[in-house]
Amino acid sequence: MIRYVLFSQNSLIMKKFYITTAIDYANGKPHIGHAYEKVLADVISRIHRLLGEDVHFLTGLDEHGQKVQQTAEKNGMTPQELCNATAVDFRSMCRELSVLYDDYVRTTQPRHKDVVSNILEKLFAQGEIYKAEYSGYYSTVTEQFLQEKDKVDGVWPKETFGDVVEMSESNYFFRLAKHKDWLIDHINSHPDFIFPQFRAKQVLEFLADDINDLCISRPKNRLSWGISLPFDDQYVTYVWFDALINYISVVGYDTKDFEKYWPVDYHTIGKDILVPAHAVYWPIMLHALDLPMPKTLLVHGWWTCSGTKMSKSLGNVINPMEYAKIYGSDPVRYFLIREMKVGQDSDFSHDLFASRYDNDLGNDLGNLVSRILNMVSRYCDGVCPEYIQDQGHDGGMIALWEATRDRFIDQCCGLQFHLALDDLFIFIRATNKYIETMAPWKLAKSSASADKNALLATLAIAAECVRIAALALYPIIPNMSAQIFYLFGISPKTLRWEAELQFGNSLAGNRFAEGAILFPRRDP
Ligand code: MSP
Repeated sequence: MIRYVLFSQNSLIMKKFYITTAIDYANGKPHIGHAYEKVLADVISRIHRLLGEDVHFLTGLDEHGQKVQQTAEKNGMTPQELCNATAVDFRSMCRELSVLYDDYVRTTQPRHKDVVSNILEKLFAQGEIYKAEYSGYYSTVTEQFLQEKDKVDGVWPKETFGDVVEMSESNYFFRLAKHKDWLIDHINSHPDFIFPQFRAKQVLEFLADDINDLCISRPKNRLSWGISLPFDDQYVTYVWFDALINYISVVGYDTKDFEKYWPVDYHTIGKDILVPAHAVYWPIMLHALDLPMPKTLLVHGWWTCSGTKMSKSLGNVINPMEYAKIYGSDPVRYFLIREMKVGQDSDFSHDLFASRYDNDLGNDLGNLVSRILNMVSRYCDGVCPEYIQDQGHDGGMIALWEATRDRFIDQCCGLQFHLALDDLFIFIRATNKYIETMAPWKLAKSSASADKNALLATLAIAAECVRIAALALYPIIPNMSAQIFYLFGISPKTLRWEAELQFGNSLAGNRFAEGAILFPRRDP
């Protein structure tokens, strides 16, 4: 794996890695869908940091548009007051789930609005935006003019589009249609552009028919909460056109810093906002601006709850922070990442959560850590012994780790976290089994020096297995991993996978804590 790029002056420069999430609508409360996406992006950024890359992780809040204006009116607030309150909720969600972003964009910030205005002006001057009279059907829910192809069984579904009204209006349009063939070519010639690949088919199907130009303005007499068009102050900008620009506005678009992170490595988004927003509007906007394309649209599936779609009316919306308050953020992160195969839908149920908590975290990992701490305390006065490699005794654990390591890293880099965690927990369970087989408690009763050596080797090897597993798990359960490092007397430092996911002897001589319960028993 090449992790560094060598430049002409022979200076070693870190590989950059830029990842974004969708920016959440400011008119609702955080739920498991928002939480999953932010945790997923956080896990990926932590992995790339551990690989020594220069990571930039951007998330934020989508603050303009009709829904925000309407919700604010309903609550007797100004839209800005609503956004300020919602920003607190969404940022707390990140904090409570240990999501460590580098930047949080809010689309009402001047640093974003200025760039949107500049881009509108540029595209208007280029002739990519034009004014026209448009008559058609308008969805009050999705805030867009509808097309025939949005119909299902001859009608626009009410649950998706709400009330559909006939409307005739002068508006500004962005030329999408003329770039359609270029986009089809781009998708066909860049298999990594959409992950998982099967989602590209959906985009190509959408592009198989004619596409309309995009209406990017809303008259202020209908909607005032938005960014004014720089060339016509009777209009505000359509919320999607504004929101998509967040991905470039706050990383220095039009400045010399821009190339530091752009093009983005991953736009992490849910499957509902791939077509047309991210796979059609956004690449065409970038193309019209003559900018490089995103490397990958990382499209995740949706969470359902005990088999049904989550909805406010069913009252089954899961708030992950409720779980995080009881169990801590790491079990929630572990559950989300372990249970969802990236790209597919997945189901949240309390029983599934409880089973992952009890079995993987409590029995397999938590017990292993407390057993090792107890034994090092009892048999070695709390100091981790040294492992002398040529004495044997490792019971195949070193070979098992060597067989697991590269596959684990590859699976993580390939976003196959469910497989990576499966493998890692096989290794953790094997470590428990190894302790059972070596039975240090029996060896401790013997006075033979061979048994004494075997005892010390067993504890050193088992502790090293846990150090490695904790480091591998760090992106997913960073707090528990840090806790394990602390209990094992490892001083805080910059963690690196390539150098430290190797079987070694770095724990020898460390003073271990006497015991700890990482995942307390659940109160049923
Ligand atoms: N504001 C737009 C995104 C603009 S990006 C330039 C938006 N916001 S949202 O709040 O409705 O959704 C934010 C993200 O959460 C989206 O990627 C969406 O797919 C994701 N999820 C919302 N509900 C979800 C589930 N039930 N499960 C998984 N993710 C889902 O769309």
